[in-house]
Amino acid sequence: MSQLILGIESSCDETGVALVRAGEGGAVPVLLAHALHSQIDMHQAYGGVVPELASRDHIRRVLPLTREVLRESGEHLEDVDVVAYTRGPGLAGALLVGAGVACALGAALDKPVLGVHHLEGHLLSPFLSSDPPEFPFVALLVSGGHTQLMRVEGVGRYEILGETIDDAAGEAFDKSAKLMGLGYPGGPALSRLAEQGSATAFKLPRPLLHSGDLDFSFAGLKTAVLTQAKKLGDELPARKADLAASTEAAIVEVLVKKTLAALQKTGLKRVVVAGGVGANRHLRAQLNAACAQAKVRVHYPELHLCTDNGAMIAMAAAMRLQAGQQQPNRDYAFDVKPRWPLDAITLAA
Ligand code: KG4
Ligand code: ZN
Repeated sequence: MSQLILGIESSCDETGVALVRAGEGGAVPVLLAHALHSQIDMHQAYGGVVPELASRDHIRRVLPLTREVLRESGEHLEDVDVVAYTRGPGLAGALLVGAGVACALGAALDKPVLGVHHLEGHLLSPFLSSDPPEFPFVALLVSGGHTQLMRVEGVGRYEILGETIDDAAGEAFDKSAKLMGLGYPGGPALSRLAEQGSATAFKLPRPLLHSGDLDFSFAGLKTAVLTQAKKLGDELPARKADLAASTEAAIVEVLVKKTLAALQKTGLKRVVVAGGVGANRHLRAQLNAACAQAKVRVHYPELHLCTDNGAMIAMAAAMRLQAGQQQPNRDYAFDVKPRWPLDAITLAA
């Protein structure tokens, strides 16, 4: 019997709601509808996410978005079988809104609920694309808070091969963009500006490129960008595009080379990129070229599903249920996990 799963994402600055239908057997669950509200305009004035404002806005948006996906899909709320929500990691207050609404809906409808790990949502989001991957694969998870290389054997079977020891790749984009006065969110803004600049204009470090392991470090790069910006002084406005392009090239080169090293180490011939930085065009172009040469298949989430959304939460819930890895529960006394390592939900090998 198929199951209708409602997914709610509210971990940071996007409210996302989606409906997914999970069928019998191994068929990939189908996205019926999804709706998203980004808080970017609201936080822009402050140069970053203001947690209290984020929570209040999630409260305003989540039910109208739920009505929207029900209308769009032609489904009825009473027919929802499981209500899934992001349990963590993320902003505590923001997570509590999604968890509270999901558990209230579950209790009112007499349906079970299921708390989802946000990073597992990103990790499985390429299964929402028209060209879904097959297990096993190497995953490059690059978001605002995380940078990890993983060996993925199946749903819930994740081995971390390497990760950042300081800033995440998204953070490197955001902090460098802020130094250049590009505002929030910095990643897309820096990337747009980089298209008009020269990637070889400034020599910036490629941290841990030759470390021999699969770990990352981006804090030093941000400092190098700051030093370069200071050195430029009055010239900065005229050279901003060059600095943006050089910064992007440094981040992307490290991500691509370490991903290739992970493929070599595991012997796998498939890679999945997930998380907000996966939307970066330069990263996609460089990784596509490197993987074509190495005869490796690359999978990405659809561009609009790279950053946070409800579809990936409903999808992760559906895939966990299908794989028999998690049972939804009727314990509506919810909790959230602002800090929650992915290892915590990983099956023992
Ligand atoms: O996955 P995500 O939406 O949220 C987290 O779970 O963190 O990722 C957001 C991150 C931000 O750091 C943002 O600047 C970055 O992804 N990002 C990009 C691009 N689009 C989003 N970074 C570089 N280029 C982009 N096109
Ligand atoms: Zn995210």
